[in-house]
Amino acid sequence: MRSTVLVVLGLVMAGCAGKETYSPAAGATGEDMFREACAECHEPKEHGSYFELDKEEATATAVAEKISKGGFMMPAFPNIGSAELKRLSDYVLDISKIE
Ligand code: HEC
Repeated sequence: MRSTVLVVLGLVMAGCAGKETYSPAAGATGEDMFREACAECHEPKEHGSYFELDKEEATATAVAEKISKGGFMMPAFPNIGSAELKRLSDYVLDISKIE
């Protein structure tokens, strides 16, 4: 019983701009990482892309920063290393609609 309460509390905190412990497998592609760590929250929109980014947000650097630092609601992913982060950010740009 007590452990159930702790698990639920943990999930609530993770959903509230906490930190994710996810670390990608060596050689994971952007798509693998997205499916494993991001797709549970980010689903495709009506036009088929996952994100709508304006020009300032639509750079690999800005996306990488969002992933490592998180946001108001989005958890941070500090364990995604720089090579993986670059692959994942490029993949995010590929599946985004840029306005
Ligand atoms: C627990 C749910 C959750 C997970 C997991 C998650 N995100 Fe997010 N993400 C959000 C929410 C909510 C926002 C918008 C509010 C904010 O910025 O906190 C967001 C915003 C973003 C944005 C900014 C553009 C936009 O649509 O607002 C990007 C880019 C992004 N996420 C990428 C990712 C990537 C890549 C991953 C996987 C490494 C990921 N997210 C995992 C919830 C999540």
